[in-house]
Amino acid sequence: MSVLITNIGELTTQDTEGTVLRGAAVVLEGERISWIGPAAHAPAADEAYDAGRRAALPGWVDSHTHLVFAGDRTAEFEARMAGQEYAAGGIAVTVGATRAAGDYDLTRLLLARVAEAAAGGTTYLETKTGYGLDVGHEARSARIATGVVDEVTYLGAHLVPEGQDADAYTDLVAGPMLDAVLPHVRWADVFCERGAFTADQARHVLGACAAAGLGLRVHGNQLGPGDGVLLAVEVGAASVDHANHLADADVAALADTWSGFADGAAPGTVATCLPACDLSTRQPFPPARRLLDAGVQLALASNCNPGTSYTSSMGFCVATAVLQMGLTVHEAVRAATFGGALALRRHTGEDADGRRAVGSLAVGHRADLQLLDAPSATHLAYRPGMPLVHAVWKAGRRVR
Ligand code: NIG
Repeated sequence: MSVLITNIGELTTQDTEGTVLRGAAVVLEGERISWIGPAAHAPAADEAYDAGRRAALPGWVDSHTHLVFAGDRTAEFEARMAGQEYAAGGIAVTVGATRAAGDYDLTRLLLARVAEAAAGGTTYLETKTGYGLDVGHEARSARIATGVVDEVTYLGAHLVPEGQDADAYTDLVAGPMLDAVLPHVRWADVFCERGAFTADQARHVLGACAAAGLGLRVHGNQLGPGDGVLLAVEVGAASVDHANHLADADVAALADTWSGFADGAAPGTVATCLPACDLSTRQPFPPARRLLDAGVQLALASNCNPGTSYTSSMGFCVATAVLQMGLTVHEAVRAATFGGALALRRHTGEDADGRRAVGSLAVGHRADLQLLDAPSATHLAYRPGMPLVHAVWKAGRRVR
């Protein structure tokens, strides 16, 4: 089954040259893109869809979410807006609600959140465990997530459960808990921050996870200066997420990991910015402009979770990055598409899992794209908060 999407006003491909085509068309064949070019030269397809001069761009790649949870934290949010500081301990409230929920309810909640994200233009989604925090509940979260989202990350090291010894819990995370989640996850993450895990504890968990074959990521430098960024670089993590409080040495270390990328070297450590979380926790935004200018590749992600960022709107994140963080529209859209794919190592062709590249539009890539009710992607920031997503295809299937 093939679909010709024609009469596209502005097509932003996010290929390496950052091509923008006007009067373009795209052919989706099954789950892949089979043709891109001027509408006047488009081949025939089984079906045609008139884009009505709307703008088209890749679907969002949301590379950082925590969607497997029950309950919400409205009271904590209200207290924060009244001046209370965010602290990692709030995670325990969600752990209690999540453990109390049955499998059916937890799955239903997750499916609803994924559908909400897709309606907002997200076509590739990562999510984490981290609200189970014992062997059985972490394994359950991983198992439920793996059937629903594209990438699952093990975050047993999210918080030391109350009353437990931190080192003994760290050994559990790096041992029996890891064995239990392993069949369901591709990534491992650690919250390396005051109130959560120290650099040594994080290093221990990440080492065990890497030895088990998982890719690594780190929550770092969110609530204050810390060791997270340098640890992420040291262990070769695919991303360090949050990165709000950076020293010059952190920026330089991240930039170093990208020094040969343009000449074909392997990708380094992506700095994943989570602006919706920064607004909700009243943290300073990460120095995105400084990172980009130093040569660091950025991702933008929603961090959808009940504590610090209860939104999956990538359009909101893009608008905030442009209006508040000093990125151009092109840079923000790139970070929310290609950057997310880079952070998940899905930016190039089929890999060992037989998965197609996402986050950019090119022949052979997964047919993930969105049409905006606007003539250009600039409207995402120019008309912030407006419901601009008109249509969405995920792996060639219309999901909105
Ligand atoms: O990415 N920083 C750690 N984890 C989440 C917050 C989780 C929570 O407070 O429930 C985050 O912001």
